[in-house]
Order: sequence, then C-alpha cells, then structure tokens
Amino acid sequence: MHAKVRNLSTVDSALNAYLAEIRDKNIQKDSLRFRRNMERAGEIIAYEISKTLTYITQPITTPLGTSNCRVLEQQPVLATILRAGLVMHQGFLNVFDGAENAFISAYRKHHGDGNSDSFEVVVEYLASPTIDGKTVILCDPMLATGASMVLAYKALLERGKPKHIHIATVIASEAGISFAQENLPENITIWAAAIDSELTPRSYIVPGLGDAGDLAYGEKV
Ligand code: URA
Repeated sequence: MHAKVRNLSTVDSALNAYLAEIRDKNIQKDSLRFRRNMERAGEIIAYEISKTLTYITQPITTPLGTSNCRVLEQQPVLATILRAGLVMHQGFLNVFDGAENAFISAYRKHHGDGNSDSFEVVVEYLASPTIDGKTVILCDPMLATGASMVLAYKALLERGKPKHIHIATVIASEAGISFAQENLPENITIWAAAIDSELTPRSYIVPGLGDAGDLAYGEKV
C-alpha cells in the first residue's frame, strides 16, 4: 500500500483557472498576481482537506437562540518549506485561521561550482510546535524530486508523532509522487492541484511553472 494521491485537476473548478494564470509565462510576471493566485490555490486545497478532518458539535449562542454548529475537533499544524511555500501557507492560514504553524528551511545545494545538475537537499532550520497526536499539513508548491518533502517530513518527526499527515502541493511531478510514496508511510495523503509528467536535468517540472520562489519573491544569488 502507498500514500493516497488526490489530483484535484481531474475535476473542473476555479482552481484550474488559477493554475492556468500561475503557469502562464506572461501573467506570472506580475508577482503580486502570482502570489495571490498561489495563495488562492492554497485556500482551495485547504478547503478540500478540511472536508476530511474530524468535527464536533458545539452549541453556539446566536442573538435569537442556539445553533449546534460543527467545528474542528482539533486545529491542524500547518508546516511549510521555506521560502517558496510561504505564499501557499498564507492561503492555508486563511482557511485554518486557528492553526499552529511550523517552518522548515530546505534548499538545493548544487555540487561543484554550483552549476552542476546534481544536488543534495540541505535542511537547516526547523521552527515547530509539538506535533504529537496532531494532524499536520505539510505544504510546498512544487513536488519535483520529492527529496525536500521527504527530508522536511523526517525533520518534523523530531517534534513528535503526528496523527495524520497531509502533503499539499500545487504542481507535482510523477517522479516526485513516486519518490514520496516510496519514502513516506502509507497513511499519508498527497494533494496536488496538478501532476505533470517530466523533470528537466536540473529537476524542474515540465511544463510546470518555472521557479516558484523566484516568481513570488525575486531571483536569488
Ligand atoms: N521548484 C520550483 O520552483 N520549480 C520546479 O519546477 C521545481 C522545483
């Protein structure tokens, strides 16, 4: 058994329209629009995940009476890989506004002079509450090789044993999904707004969208 994959592009929705703008090489140059679309994608994926969580009934006093409302039994922990995940994280936080938050830094350290296609992923920083018995939603907009996601997951386990982990991504590659399924436990759910088939030699997703971090926050040296 492998982790379950939910590919949200198989159903027509507003998410696909946002993704079209996120991918479009002309529209994505407007970084304000790119960030907002990524945030909106995060909101919609968060809403889809919210349908799978556990709820309890809570009596709420209105000005006219009492309504038995369904509310989350427990707030999730929203975990994000810096820096590209930050915009999507805000989208998740807009939906789960009472959530706890965790941040993990992971970057590709290319071998040699930095121009080599081969790299290792280095995790340097983890700021997280305890995740013992909690639902964790780990988001990164691009699941390319899957290496950062697996390392981020392992780093998070230093903070406890979660009840359930959801992995949320905007674009995943088929190879990234396979790597995640081979290296993560089967009780994980992977959510993707789209799944693309190829990776370049430098492990960029094709057709993908380019570099999500650079598009949101500018190029880095
Ligand atoms: N990270 C990105 O920003 N884009 C890719 O295509 C792969 C990883």
